[in-house]
Amino acid sequence: MRIIVRDTAVEAAEHAADLVVDSAGGVLGLATGSSPQPLYAALAARVADGSVDFGRTRGFALDEYVGLDPAHPESYHSIIARDVIGPLGFSPSRVFVPAGSGTLDEVDARALDYDAAIAAAGGVDVQILGIGSNGHIGFNEPGSAADSVTRRVDLAPSTIAANSRFFRSAGEVPVQAVTQGISTILRARSIVLVASGAAKARAVRAAVEGPVGESCPASFLRLHDEVTLCLDSAAASQLGVGLRSGAGVGA
Ligand code: F6R
Repeated sequence: MRIIVRDTAVEAAEHAADLVVDSAGGVLGLATGSSPQPLYAALAARVADGSVDFGRTRGFALDEYVGLDPAHPESYHSIIARDVIGPLGFSPSRVFVPAGSGTLDEVDARALDYDAAIAAAGGVDVQILGIGSNGHIGFNEPGSAADSVTRRVDLAPSTIAANSRFFRSAGEVPVQAVTQGISTILRARSIVLVASGAAKARAVRAAVEGPVGESCPASFLRLHDEVTLCLDSAAASQLGVGLRSGAGVGA
């Protein structure tokens, strides 16, 4: 695991963008939420100046809410279209988002097919991740197993509370999601996790320095050889002194 620490989220995102452009023409794993926004902005600037072209790149989103119309502005279908497909110039037919609408049986059946679709595309070259303040990656909440695959999950109360900022009323906030599993994520050839802000510092410390296990799903990233954490100094603030400067730890 390599740890890169920069003063600001924008600077950390520039480093992450250097790693993500390697996936152009291949397969990119896409996160949503606030954390990757500076990264998508950095990539969009590079697309605009012609230094990278994602037109032939395939994209697989990490997750989607269950029970939200894909046309809802806060569905991950909408967010991926708005933040990724448009600004980064992906071809819409090459971008896939787990299905969260339909009956629960339909959602479960389509989740089962998602890992096979990723494998059929050749596997993910670079997976972008954020991290929840409880250590989740994708929507693999604490308690998720290392061998979990894409599936429907219950969101943790803290995740529902955090996501409520995107919805007008509490009743509208989804309580379930379909998420790539831990094993799905770990099959990516390389992984770039972006985190910023003091609210992520505890989860970052647990991921990097705590025990590897289900209590902090992001800790499973230490089982992978090609993981880079791109952090701003606030997100890195609870790491051991040597790591706060971005010195890195062994895998
Ligand atoms: C989003 C995702 C989640 C978020 C996490 C952090 O696709 O999989 O794991 O990365 O909840 O969310 P933000 O970045 O909004 O703080």
